[in-house]
Amino acid sequence: MPVTPSQLMQWKQTGRSITALTAWDYPFARLLDAAGVDVILVGDSLAMVALGYLNTLPLTLDEMLHHARAVGRGVQQSLLVCDLPFMTYQESAEQALRSAGRVLKETPMQAVKLEGGHPAAVDAVAKIVQAGIPVMGHVGLTPQSVHRLGYRQQGKKPVDADRILQEAIALEEAGAFSIVLEHIPTQLAEQISQKLTIPTIGIGAGPHCDGQVLVTADLLGLSERHPPFARQYANLQEIVTQAVQAYCTEVHAGKFP
Ligand code: KIV
Repeated sequence: MPVTPSQLMQWKQTGRSITALTAWDYPFARLLDAAGVDVILVGDSLAMVALGYLNTLPLTLDEMLHHARAVGRGVQQSLLVCDLPFMTYQESAEQALRSAGRVLKETPMQAVKLEGGHPAAVDAVAKIVQAGIPVMGHVGLTPQSVHRLGYRQQGKKPVDADRILQEAIALEEAGAFSIVLEHIPTQLAEQISQKLTIPTIGIGAGPHCDGQVLVTADLLGLSERHPPFARQYANLQEIVTQAVQAYCTEVHAGKFP
């Protein structure tokens, strides 16, 4: 059975942890889906891991749609969520709805994600949800604000922790079906996860979230640099380098073909 937003909500109630990973192309999407990951996120981190940009800011909606279509072609079971890139939703709730509408009309994505829990972001979420499009929120470290926040852990001071909690509550009230909690203290993530009825998906937010997400390039050892909280489960960089060197050696030696 394909995974749906309401399925994620049910899993929160039964205590079954949710797994999410990012994808940016057809082959990885196929592998992730076949391996049984619950949620495939076409995250705007693809700007860095697949397109070589310095951060997520330059990514356009058209670039995102191109990758979302490729990912969608490889997926049968996982829930497909697509990030809205920087400046495709920040101007107004109307702009946010137009961008989310393009994602749903022009790709097989089933939901969108946007960053922030300030009042304008909450309005954008409400507007998109009212149009029948499921929205995933994202609070804590929000990489589209890198020039204001850096990549530092957020919510360490009580006043910041309280603001992040209030943002998460506001996003739930606006109709978000789940929320990414990025790089915040474990205790704060636990508090938010207990307070909300929708599932929290953590990245660098400790073990008490309702689910976990990682950037697949970090998990597979394909990133040039990965955050301290990511765990590398394989070293594809090494495997690919060895395979390519073996091929070159055999061609030079006349052993292949
Ligand atoms: O873009 C992305 O990969 C993300 C995850 C870090 C959650 O938003």
